[in-house]
Amino acid sequence: MRHLMKPLDFTTEELDQLFDLADDIQKNRAKYAHACDGKILATCFYEPSTRTRLSFESAMLSLGGQVLGFASADSSSAAKGESVADTIRTVSCFADICAMRHPKEGAPMVAASKSRIPVINAGDGGHEHPTQTLTDLMTIRSLKGRLDNFTIGFCGDLKFGRTVHSLVHALMRYDNIHFVFISPEELRIPSYVREELREANIPFEEVIDLESAIGNLDLLYMTRVQRERFFNEEDYVRLKDFCILTKAKMKKARPDMLVLHPLPRVNEISVEVDDDPRAVYFDQVQYGRFVRMALILTLLEIKV
Ligand code: NCD
Repeated sequence: MRHLMKPLDFTTEELDQLFDLADDIQKNRAKYAHACDGKILATCFYEPSTRTRLSFESAMLSLGGQVLGFASADSSSAAKGESVADTIRTVSCFADICAMRHPKEGAPMVAASKSRIPVINAGDGGHEHPTQTLTDLMTIRSLKGRLDNFTIGFCGDLKFGRTVHSLVHALMRYDNIHFVFISPEELRIPSYVREELREANIPFEEVIDLESAIGNLDLLYMTRVQRERFFNEEDYVRLKDFCILTKAKMKKARPDMLVLHPLPRVNEISVEVDDDPRAVYFDQVQYGRFVRMALILTLLEIKV
């Protein structure tokens, strides 16, 4: 039995197979409509979510399966003090696969160690978010036709942004990726990630100003400042608007630069950018559903 805790749990070959499967699902929906008949997905979400939870649910329903779960810690026995380990033992009796989001780093890993069903990390604190990475890679591969030879800029909250950490880890394995980290000092990419890049001899730059960096990028990955992970509101208020992508800044970008964002957007991308054909953050949502369908089939070892 396999779980998905971090993007590196799959080899690059396995990722290719997963994306090929997601492509096939997208093109031949009817072929997969009953692939999960009789199967149940549990979504155990101890933290807010719109896209991740709904896209998992939509994915399972589109495969003919069913879903159950909870959307907040308050509505589960966590509110009574139950541990994640005990909860997953219970969920294992009711479902065939579980997607779990938790504010504590490592909680889905604890669940996986006690689980009788595959567990998918749907985001653990400021740590990792592997299925967003699958979505991001699938989007890049579909729209650019490759996952290597890029200069990619990450802009925003690189300290707490788990989608950033997971995507950097995943991209480190592809050839000729140049990373540009754009953030204020307080929200720099964590030192352990910088260390990993140095050890792997992968070039990266850290800059504060998006405007001067944007012209060199093939991909720009924007993120929101993660208010819920700040220790005090004052710091959040001071940092939340440090960088906003506007139409004027997009004028300095390459004509084929893609703008990605895991969403939700607060105000780091001005709505005037949404109509720019290079803005693909709502396309990502669609890819996310197909790649999660492919993931469910893969972890349940269902061949169609
Ligand atoms: C992200 C997350 O939960 O980390 N959202 C998502 O799942 N698409 C990004 C965020 O909350 O900023």
